[in-house]
Formats: sequence, structure tokens, C-alpha cells
Amino acid sequence: MAARRFISWFGAFSAMIAGGGHGQQRALGARGADAAEAIVGQIEQSQALDAFAQNLGSLVAKVLQPGKVKDLVSGTWMGHPAHPMLTDIPIGAWTSALMLDLLGGRTAAKGADTLIGIGVLAALPTAVTGLSELADLGTEHERAIAAAHAIGNIAAVALYAASYVARKSGSRTIGVGLSTAATGVMTASAFLGGHLSFRKGIGVNHTAFEYAVEDWTPVLDAGELAEGEAKLVNAAGNDVMVYRAGGALCALADHCMHAGGPLHEGKVEDGRVTCPWHASTFNLADGSLVRGPATAPQPSYETRVQDGKIEVRSRT
Ligand code: FES
Repeated sequence: MAARRFISWFGAFSAMIAGGGHGQQRALGARGADAAEAIVGQIEQSQALDAFAQNLGSLVAKVLQPGKVKDLVSGTWMGHPAHPMLTDIPIGAWTSALMLDLLGGRTAAKGADTLIGIGVLAALPTAVTGLSELADLGTEHERAIAAAHAIGNIAAVALYAASYVARKSGSRTIGVGLSTAATGVMTASAFLGGHLSFRKGIGVNHTAFEYAVEDWTPVLDAGELAEGEAKLVNAAGNDVMVYRAGGALCALADHCMHAGGPLHEGKVEDGRVTCPWHASTFNLADGSLVRGPATAPQPSYETRVQDGKIEVRSRT
């Protein structure tokens, strides 16, 4: 009897968590996901947030033009985006401070205060890398989410800074209250940052899901590609840019790894192609990266002419 009651209670509880009803199967926690989806959807529709991001982005783009400084904050120099790596420092410092506040007792107070201050300092370079990414966003929905993410982060940093000041001036209870509130704001903002990366694909390699073309694959009649001309072709499902220079043929993945810009529409000069979207530059011969904000080489293809057809296969 007790077992039957337990099974029925467990079934009802599972249905509540899963959000299921009327025989529908839903994932665990589906109601929470639905609520989050609705909130994110509202943010994405906000024209005010989009306008804010556009204004901020154009300001940042004026300061961070393609070149060495943009490469530095993009992470081009280390082959990976800089922003996600830097976020670990303030988030780690502030989360550790929260643990010390909760569990460390009096002896841990000084350590917690120092960590709050370290987090505030580390947030500044982290914000610069984030603003650089915001300036390169392409759609209104992405920009609206990025604006909410930025505003959330500014609010969190302001609360942590106020907490540091309160702690240092002897108002410890107020300081702990402010940093605890900041943790909530920071977590919500991090959720939006995750949405941008994992849902919207911001900061990911836009060629990551292209399969290697292992066999020589005909893509175009050789006579259809003039000297100095770039064309978009398809090789086994991959969009490829082919280019003829000085009689030699070059081929690169067409979607720029940074954000998917169409390289066949880019400017070709001195054996290099510059992406029309944010000016990343790649060597046509092998796809190696010359200038960011891209952070990795562009996949490249070997080429040959066989029976009057241009053929390509992935370079290994
Ligand atoms: S899509 Fe950003 S540089 Fe190409």
C-alpha cells in the first residue's frame, strides 16, 4: 500500500517537474525552460535594447578598428576567443568570496573582501573583450541579448564595487548583502551570455561542423573561373570559395570562421582575402590567419584541374 502511494506520489512529482500533462512527454524541468525561453524571447524583441547595443557597438567599433589592438582583445594572438576565458576570473573570485562569506567565518572575512576587489579589477578587461564581441554582432536579436548581458554585468560590477567599499569602511553586513545581491545579477547575466554562445553561436568557429572533403570533388568548369575572379561553389555540401591568381587556383571554406561572413564577396589583395563583415584576413594559399577578429585559420582545400573541371579536396 505504502509502495503504491509512493509510486503515485513520485509519478505526480515527476509530471510537475517535467511539466507534462495529458500524456505528453517533456524533458526534466521543462517548465523552467519554458519560463526562461519566454523571458529571453521578450528580451530579444526589445528594440530599445537593440538600439542601445547598436549605439554602443558603433562607439566601440570606432575605437577598436581591425588591427593589433582588436586582435589583442579578440584573442587572435592565442588562437581562441579571449572573452570566455577572462570571464572565469571575476566569476571565480566573486563565487569564492560568496563561499567564504557563507562558510568561512570571521577569519575568512579579509580573504573574501580581497576577492571581491580582485573580481572588480578583473571585470574591466573582461568587459573590453565583451564589448569588442558586441560590436561585431549581426542581428537585432543578438544585439538585444548582448545589451541586456552588458547592462546586467555593469549592474553586478557596480554592486560588487559598492560591496567592497562598504566592507572596507566597516559596514560588513551591508557589504555582504550587496555582494550577495550582485551574485544573483551576475548569474542571470551569465545565463544570457551562455544563450549568446550556445544558442546564437556567437564566438564559435563557424566552420566547425563542415565535414572534411576527402576525395577529389569536381566543383566548376575550369573555363568558368577567370583570372582574379572569386566564385562560390559547393563541395560535398560545403560552401567553398575558389579563386584564380596568376594561373594558380586557391580554395577556402567560404563561411568565415569568425561569424560566417561570405569570403567570396571579400576583397582579394596580395594573395589574401579580407572578410566583408569584420575584416578578418586569411592567406589564400593555405587559409592561415593574417588578421582577426577571427581566432583560427580558415579551412583550405587542395585544387587541381581534371578533364576540364576544377576539383578540390580538404587540405590535411
Ligand atoms: S565574419 Fe567576422 S570577420 Fe568574417
